[in-house]
Amino acid sequence: MKKVRTAVIGLGWPGKEHLKGYQACPHAEVVAVCDLDEPLLAHVSTEFGIKRTFIDYHKMLACDDIDAVSVCVPNHAHAALTIDSLAAGKHVLCEKPPAMNAAEAVTMAGMATRGQRTLMYAMVMRFYPETRYLRDLIDAGELGDIYLAKAGYTRRRGIPLGRNNWFVDKERSGGGALIDIGVHALDCMWYLMGTPKPVSVSGSAFSKFAHTVPAGVKYDVDDAAMALIKFANGATLFLEASWAWNLPGGPTKMIAGTRGGASMDPLKIYTEKNGIVLDTVPGGGNMPEGYGNNPGNPFFGETAHFVNVIRGEAQLLATPEHGIQLMQMLDGVYASSSTGKEVRL
Ligand SMILES: NC(=O)c1ccc[n+]([C@@H]2O[C@H](COP(=O)([O-])OP(=O)(O)OC[C@H]3O[C@@H](n4cnc5c(N)ncnc54)[C@H](O)[C@@H]3O)[C@@H](O)[C@H]2O)c1
Repeated sequence: MKKVRTAVIGLGWPGKEHLKGYQACPHAEVVAVCDLDEPLLAHVSTEFGIKRTFIDYHKMLACDDIDAVSVCVPNHAHAALTIDSLAAGKHVLCEKPPAMNAAEAVTMAGMATRGQRTLMYAMVMRFYPETRYLRDLIDAGELGDIYLAKAGYTRRRGIPLGRNNWFVDKERSGGGALIDIGVHALDCMWYLMGTPKPVSVSGSAFSKFAHTVPAGVKYDVDDAAMALIKFANGATLFLEASWAWNLPGGPTKMIAGTRGGASMDPLKIYTEKNGIVLDTVPGGGNMPEGYGNNPGNPFFGETAHFVNVIRGEAQLLATPEHGIQLMQMLDGVYASSSTGKEVRL
């Protein structure tokens, strides 16, 4: 089959990681890049050796020789650009969070179904070597029935502002730490749990660090959030996220089943043998970088997977339905926080 001809819209850090991924993939070819910022567009197109550049994404989408696009723009533009791209007959790899809310994700999924195009969400932690290894272990039944997980992505201090401060403006971001980095940890552990159907959310979101951003910057998002999410199969996940709090930062990724458990960052497996608890460090602490479909950079694995799905050679890992359910969980945390009640999904 011929190469998948790709283009990237939005050339911030993730946009460039997508470019690197496509350029490393033998079945893909990057044919165009797009950004509203002309100097950045010129700089990135030169750096990556891409001749065709667009400021207006509509003009790029009109090109018949583009099969697929990466949408790597601020959160408020995910839905519009994804829908326009699908309507133009392109396959779409959309950055996280899937959308501003579940309603947008529903519309995006509907458009992908109607147009019979691939819509994949760029949930990059699914492509980490540790995640791929653990997923294989869980699929093989090594941990038994999974019934609980902890997912955390926390920073002691680390509030991103982004271009024109969009990260801290709810109208353009949809939320703060929870929707920005909490979504990564939540998605990773939910994926390892087997994406069970979420049924209830109880959560709190806090905004306590407005004083740390420059004067005049609109700041109306959460800088920390916690939640308890329950699933239809009885499994439960505890989620925490922070951009800033007076606690240490770092990742928490733990999952437990009836036969064993695991913690990540670094990976450790907890089991029991002959009545004695047993801790195992796979690979002696060095996960082989090539584990799964990841040749070193998780974005390589992510973009290669997207290309393989378009070529009919792989089953989509991060589906439009996953995008809807992820946004339902995040919407649920914000709704629970503002009402003070558990939200039934
Ligand atoms: N996967 C990850 O680890 C990861 C990391 C960072 C950000 N992200 C996500 O990637 C997205 C972009 O984040 P960022 O940090 O690059 O933001 P950014 O503000 O640094 O860059 C976004 C770029 O998009 C361009 N842009 C905006 N609207 C556009 C439009 N209509 N047409 C063309 N270009 C447009 C801007 O000019 C800018 O260059 C966000 O959704 C963010 O959540 C993902």
